[in-house]
Amino acid sequence: LRVRVDVLPQGDYSGAAIVVDVLRATTTATTFLEQGAAEVILAPSPAAAHLLGQAQDRPSLLAGERGGLKMDGFDLGNSPQEAAAQRWDGQSIIMNTTNGTAAAHIAARSAWPVFLGCLRNAPAAAKAALDSGVTEVTVVCAGTDGMVSMDDVYAAGALVHHLNALQPCVPDDSALIAHTLLTRWPPGDALRRSWHGRRLLTLELEADLEFCAQVGVSQCVPTLLETRGGGLVFG
Ligand code: MLT
Repeated sequence: LRVRVDVLPQGDYSGAAIVVDVLRATTTATTFLEQGAAEVILAPSPAAAHLLGQAQDRPSLLAGERGGLKMDGFDLGNSPQEAAAQRWDGQSIIMNTTNGTAAAHIAARSAWPVFLGCLRNAPAAAKAALDSGVTEVTVVCAGTDGMVSMDDVYAAGALVHHLNALQPCVPDDSALIAHTLLTRWPPGDALRRSWHGRRLLTLELEADLEFCAQVGVSQCVPTLLETRGGGLVFG
């Protein structure tokens, strides 16, 4: 199995992609599904999210952020703790976020299957990618506004670790770099030191950061099922 890490979403993948925006979009999407949501749809823009919301057959809620905060006209922010606070059975959750959503759309242009990964589901996401039978897996890091995010590269390292534990892998150099980060800090410390982590701390979102730093506590792996109205439908 070849394992690559794209520290920023470059596109043009062969095989499976695991998209990672550990702070916080892919952690939040994972948590909505874990808490019973029927599906999570990653909309390409806030306007597309509103249109998708009007077009759904089942009840839907809009979730997302700009600058880390809930958008006007949206029902929910991008907080995994908010997602964990109640059940969402039968609901379509339509999300748009700054970086994570865009990364998933780039990955979905060429990769198949496409999963959402984070620290919470790292072992389960690695197993899902392996079980898909591909010979190449790319962990696609969302980054922050076009810059490499250490929090995403760290989570990618955890995915590389779990992929390699299940089946010996041939890593590219980015995968080796990501994996090396794991030996430097425990997850909470790594997330706290990252630029995005520091920004969440200034927004008093430390509880979200702690939630995102828990490794292997979720078996839920959002998997791309189809595209609908320009949105990526994960279940
Ligand atoms: C994003 O998609 O840019 C992030 O998930 C931002 C955030 O932490 O809300």
